Amino acid sequence: MALEGLEELGKPHYKGAEAYLYVIEWLGRKAVLKLRIPKHYRHPLLDRRLRWRRTVNEARAVLAAIMAGVNAPAIYYVDPVAGAIVMEYIDAVSLYEVIEKKPEAAVQYARRLGEAVGTLHARGISHGDLTTSNVLTRGGDVYLIDFGLASLKSSEREQAVDVHLYLRSLESTHPDHVDTMLEAFLEGYMSVRGGAVTEKIMQLVREIRLMGRYKEERRTAWQQEE
Ligand SMILES: Nc1ncnc2c1ncn2[C@@H]1O[C@H](COP(=O)(O)OP(=O)(O)O)[C@@H](O)[C@H]1O
Ligand SMILES: [Mg+2]
Repeated sequence: MALEGLEELGKPHYKGAEAYLYVIEWLGRKAVLKLRIPKHYRHPLLDRRLRWRRTVNEARAVLAAIMAGVNAPAIYYVDPVAGAIVMEYIDAVSLYEVIEKKPEAAVQYARRLGEAVGTLHARGISHGDLTTSNVLTRGGDVYLIDFGLASLKSSEREQAVDVHLYLRSLESTHPDHVDTMLEAFLEGYMSVRGGAVTEKIMQLVREIRLMGRYKEERRTAWQQEE
C-alpha cells in the first residue's frame, strides 16, 4: 500500500519543528502519520537527504527498541522518500503532562523510564532527544517516541547526553520535581545497568553539564562585551 492522497490529509493534529503529525486510519486501525516536511531554507538536495535519513533512522531505532523489549509504537509503514512513517497510535498522556497534572503519579513512570532507557543503552541504543514530551505513559507503563536522532551504536557520552537531556527538560519545565524525578529514573536505570556503569554515565553527565555551563558563561561574557 502506498501513501496516496497526502494532499487530502487536512490539518495536522500536531505541528512540530520538523514534522507534521496526523491521526489517520491505517488498514482499519487508528494510526499516526509522521510526515517530515521540506524546509525551504535548506538546500533541496540536503533537505531531501536529511528527511530521508531521519525517517529511516527513526524507523530503525524504533524497531531496535521494540526488539530490546522497550515499548515504542509499532511501525506500520515507512516511505523514506516522502519522509513518512505510519505507526501505532498510542492513546496515552505524555510524561510532561503527568508531571504537570499529577506529579505524585509521575515518580513511578520515572522509574519505568529509567529501566527503559537503561535497557536501550545496554544494547548500545541512545535516544537522542529524551525530553518528557517524548515519553508517553499509559496504564503504569512508558512508551518512547520520536527516535529521529537516535543512534544504534552509541558511545557512553551519547548515552550520558540522553540523561542530560532528560534532566534539562525537567529543570526547564518542572524545576520543583527535578530531584524526585531524577532519583527514581536512576533507580530504574541502575536496576538494569548496575551501579558501576550508572556512576560512569553520571560522571559524564556532570562533565557535559560543566561544559554547557562554561559555554553559557562565555556566551554571556561576550554579550556583555558587545
Ligand atoms: N505514536 C503516537 N501515538 C500517539 N501520539 C503520538 C505518537 N507519536 C507522536 N505523538 C504525539 O505527537 C507529538 C509529536 O510527535 P514527535 O514524534 O515527538 O515529533 P516531534 O519531532 O515534532 O517532536 C508527540 O509529542 C505526541 O504528543
Ligand atoms: Mg517530540
